[in-house]
Amino acid sequence: MSSPHPHDLDARAASFAHRHLLGIEGLTAPEINLLLDRADGYVERNRNREPASELLKGRVVVNLFFENSTRTRTSFELAARRLGGDVINMSVDGSSVKKGETLIDTAMTLNAMHLDVLVVRHQESGAPKLLADKVNCAVINAGDGSHEHPTQALLDALTIRRHKGSLKGLTVAICGDILHSRVARSNIHLLNAMGATVRGVAPPTLLPSAAERLGLEVHHRMETGLKDVDIVMMLRLQQERMQGQYLPSVREFFRFYGLDYEKLKLARPDALIMHPGPMNRGVEIDSQVADDIHRSVILEQVELGVAVRMACLEVLTMWSGPGNG
Ligand code: NCD
Repeated sequence: MSSPHPHDLDARAASFAHRHLLGIEGLTAPEINLLLDRADGYVERNRNREPASELLKGRVVVNLFFENSTRTRTSFELAARRLGGDVINMSVDGSSVKKGETLIDTAMTLNAMHLDVLVVRHQESGAPKLLADKVNCAVINAGDGSHEHPTQALLDALTIRRHKGSLKGLTVAICGDILHSRVARSNIHLLNAMGATVRGVAPPTLLPSAAERLGLEVHHRMETGLKDVDIVMMLRLQQERMQGQYLPSVREFFRFYGLDYEKLKLARPDALIMHPGPMNRGVEIDSQVADDIHRSVILEQVELGVAVRMACLEVLTMWSGPGNG
C-alpha cells in the first residue's frame, strides 16, 4: 500500500494552520476531525504490520522527556519509525535540570542539529510553548504539568469514535483527580469542541476552581455523575503533584470514587471504560473492571496512540500552515 501523500489531502487538510501541537485548546472541530481521520487510516495498516512508509524519510524526530513515560514516549518512537523517520530519545532527569535558561539551552542545542519535530514532556505547564517560540522545528506537547496532553485526548477521541461512531451527543464522565490532570484538560477541550457533554466527577478538592468555565458539568458523587453516561473515563490520583492533604485516605477515595461494578451499573449498559494509564488498581479503578474485555478499552487506547501520533507527525511535517499555535 502506498504512503499517504500530501497530494491526497482533501480540502480540510489545507486548513491545518498550526506549526505546532501544543494543546487541544484552539483547535477547531474540522482540525480535530482531520487528525482523527488520518489516524483512522493508520490503524489497520499497523494491525496488518504493513511495512513502514517513507513519509518521514530523512526527517528527525527527537523525544525530549523531562518526566517519566512508558506509553507516550514509546508510541511516539514507534509512530516516527513506522513513517520511516529517524528517532532520538533523550530523557532528562527533571531534578537535575534547572528551569528557564537550561530548558531553552537544551532546545537550542538540539535545534542546531536540524530536527524536524521536537516531542516534549515537561513537569512545568507552558514549557513546550516556551520552546516552540525558540526553535525552527515543529513542537508536539507530550504532556506539560497539569496543562495539556493533546495526543492523549486525540487517541481517546479516536477510541470513542471507533466504538460509538461519533462524539457528538455523547455524555462522558471524567472521574477522579481532574485538578492535576493534563489528560482531563485536553479531553474537556476536545469533547466540548466536538459536541459531547462532559461531566467532571470528583471531590471538591480535586476539581479546578474554574471547572464550570472549563466546560464541565460538575458532580461530587459517582451516583449522579455516572448516571446514563456513554463513557466512563477514569484518572490516576497524581500524588506526585499533590502538596498537602487532598483526600482523607486512598481507601476512602476508592470507596466513594473508585470505579467498581456496583458504580458502573449506573452508566449505560454499553458504556465504555477508559483510563489513560498508568493505572493504580484498587485506588481509582477495581482490577476486574479494568480488565473486563467486554467493557474496558484501556489497551485499545494504547494501540490507537501509535496511529494518532503518526497522524500528528504527518500533518505537522507535511501539511501544517504558517500559524503559530
Ligand atoms: C498520563 C500523563 O502522563 O499525563 N499518562 C499518559 O500519558 N498516558 C496520565 C497520568 O500520568 O496519570
